Amino acid sequence: MKSIAIAEILSNNKLSDGIFEMIIAVDSIAKEAKAGQFVNVYTGLGENILPRPISISEIDKENGTLTLIYQVVGVGTKCFSDCTAGQEIKVLGPLGNGFIVPEEEASHVVVGGGIGAPPLIELVKALKGEVNVFLGARSKPILIEKFEALGARVHVATDDGSVGFKGNVVELMNKMQPKADFIYSCGPKIMLNFLSQWAKSRGISAQVSMEERMACGIGACVGCAIKIKKEGDSDWQNLKVCKDGPVFMSNEVVWDE
Ligand SMILES: Cc1cc2nc3c(=O)[nH]c(=O)nc-3n(C[C@H](O)[C@H](O)[C@H](O)COP(=O)(O)OP(=O)(O)OC[C@H]3O[C@@H](n4cnc5c(N)ncnc54)[C@H](O)[C@@H]3O)c2cc1C
Ligand code: FES
Repeated sequence: MKSIAIAEILSNNKLSDGIFEMIIAVDSIAKEAKAGQFVNVYTGLGENILPRPISISEIDKENGTLTLIYQVVGVGTKCFSDCTAGQEIKVLGPLGNGFIVPEEEASHVVVGGGIGAPPLIELVKALKGEVNVFLGARSKPILIEKFEALGARVHVATDDGSVGFKGNVVELMNKMQPKADFIYSCGPKIMLNFLSQWAKSRGISAQVSMEERMACGIGACVGCAIKIKKEGDSDWQNLKVCKDGPVFMSNEVVWDE
């Protein structure tokens, strides 16, 4: 069950240009959280400023901590980057539904684009069997070493060719043809769309974590609705990314907009 809590910031370190890793102590949320869910983080800039949705990257249930990895893009994330260890921050969560993790051993393909990679770390920890992680970015992707340390095989695609394959992750997957019983992904919508077609053409089940601009983050404002057509339904319906997602089956997302 979600709750609102005051978390203590244990650390807030720069990982690379404009990207930070914040570890917070927030037992009530950590004990409920699962891979693919997110939290709404309040900025401290005033009660009228909306909280910012940030994915849960890692969960330590024993110590009651969450790891958040975020990119500074505007006032809210800039405010987070100015925080220091020992400060307190208001957090609401866990929010959303998270990834469905199969019980059995299988061949898993996990695909992260840019700042979409963080929630896939906790997912990779939970998967049993062979895990191939594909990371795409304009230049060197973040978190390569973290995924490798978890025992995953990591394959990198960059737009500028500075690391790994020059091109996008789906082109790299076309080249490598990885064995996949299940696919999971988080990243830019265009990448998720191409990946969805890749999975569909091979009859593979894929889960995609969708991102939409959010206001309330708890299903009250309908600001984050996307079109979903469930199997057997005659038409699409509007579902909320914050409450019904952010993870959806890729073959249920209506991509044509
Ligand atoms: C489910 C979910 C998980 C996310 N996880 C992460 C993550 O792990 N790491 C990370 O760096 N970013 C993540 N984002 C994107 C992050 O929420 C935005 O970058 C952030 O809200 C921008 O806030 P800002 O004040 O810095 O920017 P501003 O542009 O000043 O934000 C203005 C307003 O727009 C909203 N907004 C802006 N961009 C987005 C966006 N892309 N998605 C949703 N709302 C947005 C903000 O919440 C705020 O209300 C996630 C978004 C969603 C929806
Ligand atoms: S952000 Fe308000 S319903 Fe999703």
